Amino acid sequence: MNFQKVSTLDELWEGDMAEVEVDGHVIVLVRPEGGAPRAFQGICPHQDIPLAEGKFDGRVLMCRAHQWTFDANTGKGINPGGCRLAEYAVKVDGDDILIAVEGVEPLFANC
Ligand code: FES
Repeated sequence: MNFQKVSTLDELWEGDMAEVEVDGHVIVLVRPEGGAPRAFQGICPHQDIPLAEGKFDGRVLMCRAHQWTFDANTGKGINPGGCRLAEYAVKVDGDDILIAVEGVEPLFANC
């Protein structure tokens, strides 16, 4: 897999989120409390709203548009359930956070 550096642990503290783009993929990078950085599709599966414009409390990611919520450790939908965010592979190398996008496609609307 082709991992590309997108951020550092120094830039992305626990409870932080950021939007990054890798090879045309819009990605929301989150660092859940007590956990490792995770990378999910950056566009809400409901409609075309960037998730990084929503809220993140360290555990739950909430879209700003209609308040859909997702578990930031798994990408699984909380409300509505049965929905999920596509997840990208993340690697931490020293202080660097790297993401690989091969084979991942965002999920939309069939929640
Ligand atoms: S666009 Fe995200 S909840 Fe509707």
